[in-house]
Amino acid sequence: MSRSVLVTGGSRGIGLAIARELKEAGDDVAVTYRSGEPPEGLLGVQCDITDTAQVDAAFKQVEEEQGQVQVLVANAGITKDQLLALMSEEDFSSVVDTNLTGSFRVAKRAVRGMMRKRTGRIILISSVVGLLGSGGQANYSASKAGLVGFARSLARELGSRNITVNVVAPGFIETDMTAALPEDRQVGIKKNVPLGRFGSADEIAKAVRFLASDDAAYITGAVIPVDGGLGMGH
Ligand code: NAI
Repeated sequence: MSRSVLVTGGSRGIGLAIARELKEAGDDVAVTYRSGEPPEGLLGVQCDITDTAQVDAAFKQVEEEQGQVQVLVANAGITKDQLLALMSEEDFSSVVDTNLTGSFRVAKRAVRGMMRKRTGRIILISSVVGLLGSGGQANYSASKAGLVGFARSLARELGSRNITVNVVAPGFIETDMTAALPEDRQVGIKKNVPLGRFGSADEIAKAVRFLASDDAAYITGAVIPVDGGLGMGH
């Protein structure tokens, strides 16, 4: 039976690969997008996850069109890299507000229906740098590390309702985000990855598909690295 899935930031990159993968698995999949046209074949709902009212409106639209959200993938995220001494408070708080508080907003809205139905899957997209740290990314890595504590607390709160909460921690993945890195930085990063290459968005999507599937029914509070060995399982 198809489930109602919502992927935030699912109009491109990793989020789009996840949305397409779950669609292929037979689910009804909605994606949030902020501007332009939503991707074909998916239900597009306009939503900025920094705005609680927009989050609520997006969920209402998804509920009307494909039923209460049973699988939530909190994928939307941003970077605003800068060395600490030069980082503005706005650069710090806006990254945390999108990556961490944004995930809080959508998870809080999603669990209402999940608790009533006594079933649900929440998957949060973190990053290898959440646990490894990364110079110039104090805001980003703090927000991504925060997702781990957030997920594990939810796993404890919601386990008795048969809701699992897990984190996927991608390493360096071929997307717009990594294409923006200078060539010499890309070569340097690959030297530290045991598998010697960047990953693909599809490789993240496969891990999410597994966590969302019945085969992962007994996995909760886990951090699944998909990083070519960069974080060595943390
Ligand atoms: P991307 O920049 O291509 O896509 C990010 C998506 O999030 C976009 O669709 C964007 O519109 C959406 N988004 C950003 N702020 C939003 C907001 N306030 N409200 C609603 N949507 C918003 O990035 P990519 O590479 O696909 O990354 C997806 C996730 O994976 C992010 O959370 C990122 O931090 C994480 N990640 C990416 C890695 C990489 O190598 N590309 C590595 C590790 C983690």
